Amino acid sequence: MAAPGRRPRSTRVLTSAAALGGTLLLSSCQLPRFGAPEPASDQGGHTLGLWQGFFVAAIVVTLFVWVPLAFVLLKYRRTRRARRGDASMPSQKAYNIPMEIGYTVVPVLIVAVLFFFSVRTEHEVTAVSKAPAVRVEVIGFQWGWQFRYLGEGFTVDAPPGEKPQLVLPIGASTNLKLVSTDVNHSFWVPDFLSKRDLIPGVDNEITVTPNRAGTFEGRCAEFCGLDHWKMGFTVRIVPQAQFDSWLAEQKAAGGTASAIPPTTATTSDTSEGSGG
Ligand code: CUA
Repeated sequence: MAAPGRRPRSTRVLTSAAALGGTLLLSSCQLPRFGAPEPASDQGGHTLGLWQGFFVAAIVVTLFVWVPLAFVLLKYRRTRRARRGDASMPSQKAYNIPMEIGYTVVPVLIVAVLFFFSVRTEHEVTAVSKAPAVRVEVIGFQWGWQFRYLGEGFTVDAPPGEKPQLVLPIGASTNLKLVSTDVNHSFWVPDFLSKRDLIPGVDNEITVTPNRAGTFEGRCAEFCGLDHWKMGFTVRIVPQAQFDSWLAEQKAAGGTASAIPPTTATTSDTSEGSGG
């Protein structure tokens, strides 16, 4: 297409920068995770999507600032020619109303779009399943964890100094009821890309849908006292069949005795009907 007259050089520089950035992003068929762990749950996948979107937006904004800045710095730098007094000067016009409106409206639009996606992701991540395949009460206490499989009649815990293991099936929704018996704790599995606090007297419940097998580290993410650092656990995600046989084994063994009983049960629970 034969354009009538060349576009100004600044426009050409900006266009090439945008094209280069776009090509770099698209050339890797999958967006990089920008430092986030590979999600081990569907909910973590949503969080990762939001993180990537924010990162790409930040890159675009950065280019939009840096490229014109570099252009101006280079074009109007003080050269030998300038010292002789015949340099070109940038326009010294004081006001540019359309541009001022633009750089007020565009950032507001960017924030609105980011806000929209944040709220959407928050709904996806915090949605609690009405019909979970597994329900576990996660009890946090100073300084350990217990996993009570609701309706199955057994509890997983660990002797002092060892980490208890939460076992979950792949592809099924698990509801985790987060209960604290003393102070605030926080249930954090980095590979799920989310944390949720355990607050005495507050009924926090999350749904996790694991999507790949493996053993993942979990820990308390709220400073809860001297031995806060000891509050580690692991999450083991296994195929459904393996989970079923593990469940049957645990049930056959009867409710495991708790080596570290939580002091007071703030939980009323075991009323299975969730209702609404
Ligand atoms: Cu519990 Cu830190």
